[in-house]
Amino acid sequence: MSEQFVVVTGANRGIGLALTKEYLRRGCEVLALCRKASEALRETKAALLTGIDVADAATMPLIQEHLGTRTIDILINNAGILHSECLGVIDFTQVTRQLEVNSVAPLRVTETLLDNLQPGSKVALITSRMGSITDNESGGYYGYRMSKAALNSAGMSLSHDLKPKGVAVAILHPGFVQTDMVANAGDVSPQSAAENLIHRIDELSLENSGTFWHASGEVLPW
Ligand SMILES: NC(=O)c1ccc[n+]([C@@H]2O[C@H](COP(=O)([O-])OP(=O)(O)OC[C@H]3O[C@@H](n4cnc5c(N)ncnc54)[C@H](OP(=O)(O)O)[C@@H]3O)[C@@H](O)[C@H]2O)c1
Repeated sequence: MSEQFVVVTGANRGIGLALTKEYLRRGCEVLALCRKASEALRETKAALLTGIDVADAATMPLIQEHLGTRTIDILINNAGILHSECLGVIDFTQVTRQLEVNSVAPLRVTETLLDNLQPGSKVALITSRMGSITDNESGGYYGYRMSKAALNSAGMSLSHDLKPKGVAVAILHPGFVQTDMVANAGDVSPQSAAENLIHRIDELSLENSGTFWHASGEVLPW
């Protein structure tokens, strides 16, 4: 695991920050991408690239310029947003924003960094089981569910398209994690979630590429 070069989006807080810390603890080099670095992120030894709004195509060249021709061992598309909508008063601007941030942006970031992904590189998409159509037994959350289902679909296509290049793709639900996103109401700490996610990424291979996993290792239904 040591010496690996890891790039994480949305690294300033929550699961992205925990992934950054855990990879650093394991001896990896981490490039933390974020809009604005938090104090907690600045206290780590991660290299920082700030001003990166993943939903803003204009920031993609900044990532490219920073990385140059450097090979990324692990690219983690983690940045995401969650809103809630009620049928009858759906805020469609909010729905569209979730699609932009949660589904289009990870695909764009991955495409931007295609040349930095080489045989043996891995891409992780932090999705949600709320994007599972089979698992949807309670409705609502139109924008979030749609955006994560779309992300899962992009992940499957990426797994096929990147396989000839020797790049594997994991579609990962982190669990219900105590972060700002869920007002800290989760049942697992960001650190535990990060450890579990990293185990899944460790086990990711070209053979199991394109699988939709819970961080616990359970394979989730589409
Ligand atoms: N927490 C859970 O229970 C849970 C469950 C399932 C899936 N997830 C997924 O896990 C991932 C991380 O979520 P979290 O729980 O850590 O949430 P969080 O604490 O709210 O953190 C979200 C992160 O995404 C970043 N972000 C949001 N929009 C961005 C944008 N346009 N450009 C760049 N960065 C952006 C935020 O940066 P700013 O500080 O700049 O806003 C922040 O770093 C998300 O994809 C989420 O959908 C979380």
